[in-house]
Amino acid sequence: MEARDHIILFPFMAQGHLIPFVSLAKLLQRRTNCLVTLLSTPLNVQKFRSVLPPDAPIQVHSLPFDASDHGLPLGAENTDGLPFPLWVRLFHASRALRPAFEQFLSDFRRRHGRPPLCVVADFFLGWTLFAARAMGVYHAVFTTCGAYGTAAFISLWGNLPHTKTEEEQFHLPGFPESFRLERSQMSLYMRAADGNDEWSRFFREISPPCFESDALLCNSVAEMEPFGLEVLRGMMKMPVWCIGLTLPPSSLHRHPSSSFSDNRTGKETGISITDCVEWLNTHPPSSVLYISFGSQNTISETQMLKLAEGLESAGHPFIWVVRPPIGHDVNADFREEWLPEGFEERMRERKQGILVRKWAPQLEILAHESTGAFLSHCGWNSVLESMSQGVPIIAWPLASDQFYNSKMMEEELGVSLELTRGLVAEITVQTVVNVTQQVLGKTEKSADMKKKALVVSDMIRASMVEENGKTGSAINAVDEF
Ligand code: UDX
Repeated sequence: MEARDHIILFPFMAQGHLIPFVSLAKLLQRRTNCLVTLLSTPLNVQKFRSVLPPDAPIQVHSLPFDASDHGLPLGAENTDGLPFPLWVRLFHASRALRPAFEQFLSDFRRRHGRPPLCVVADFFLGWTLFAARAMGVYHAVFTTCGAYGTAAFISLWGNLPHTKTEEEQFHLPGFPESFRLERSQMSLYMRAADGNDEWSRFFREISPPCFESDALLCNSVAEMEPFGLEVLRGMMKMPVWCIGLTLPPSSLHRHPSSSFSDNRTGKETGISITDCVEWLNTHPPSSVLYISFGSQNTISETQMLKLAEGLESAGHPFIWVVRPPIGHDVNADFREEWLPEGFEERMRERKQGILVRKWAPQLEILAHESTGAFLSHCGWNSVLESMSQGVPIIAWPLASDQFYNSKMMEEELGVSLELTRGLVAEITVQTVVNVTQQVLGKTEKSADMKKKALVVSDMIRASMVEENGKTGSAINAVDEF
């Protein structure tokens, strides 16, 4: 029998969740004397293996999972005859993992003579609580979002407002009386508010057990969002810890070919770090706009055209990770007709911009001194990566927690400016020109945003310090946990 205690980490199977869980595994392994095991489906376990150094003292374990046997076969269609979106397939697939997880815990106890010390499960896998409780195992929930975003999300799901106009404002229970959200800051699926859509059903199912868990771990830094953390703590009865984030040196971002990039087509999907860095080297400090909408989101064809026209008019250099617009297969080859005629060639010749197909070495781009701003959908990983490098954000939130992340960064931290919001937002050339000029031009606003972003970057770094007996707040939170 092993003398060491064992921690089981169980992420939801989406890109934006896998990355922070790998970081958490490394952090827990470093700070505890425990064995750490990452649990997932066979495909994701392969991804874990590819990003963990071969000698990493972290185990990975694959739960048996048959993609065609989770009640919603890949390629299945909904009643409109459209393929189910990736998220819906993932919801169904994650539910199907429950018996396999329960079996895993039983087998574990039989093999080791005792259960694991602790299970840390994704917020999206709330049902893990039942098996953990049945075996007397300590259960923690890890939210891959920030504290502010998690609090807003929890409050909204419990109190979906029946607003009508986009600008109509409403109060969010649990937040101070003066706090307001607008209808346009709710994801499209929340606006129907009839509770019968896939998202509502899923959240109704997974949330209650999360509220009964023993601890809530947040992928964030306490100093960065004191307001959000206070609100979240007020909502939860268990301890809430901001355990920070682990950034460079990170094998996740050093080698794009072995990163979590979606490379199902087998084609080279990205741009090499060297090509990116060489291109960035030819531009002055803080001058380049990096544009990416994360691993899943994309914008419409009309929005893409307007953004391109706006970028061309604005004249700031840019690196843009282009993906097929809404309504097209995310793995489809990019078609030039989705952009203004001759756009890519003109931008390349003028040395104004490069387009990256599908996947870019994001962290390396953000870390380069020529990168001056990040036009982002405000996925939480992108926010943290940008802030860790002191790069201000131009926000275009598209779904889920992205709206609250954008609001928090603009109102609480002053490091972001919202360009527009939503999947159906109208965007004009003039707005792109105005906003990019405010953030990248030599303006008072840009200087102020840069200064504030550097302060946040320092906060993040200080929170993660663990040297010469000194530890930052995030490390202290991990130790307390
Ligand atoms: C999802 C949700 O959309 C987001 O709202 C939630 O906060 C986390 O889960 P995703 O849309 O993938 O995440 O965005 P984000 O959280 O920003 O994560 C994207 C990750 O992929 C980042 O770590 C980013 O560095 C990486 N990435 C993305 C690349 O390395 N290259 C790319 O070209 C695009």
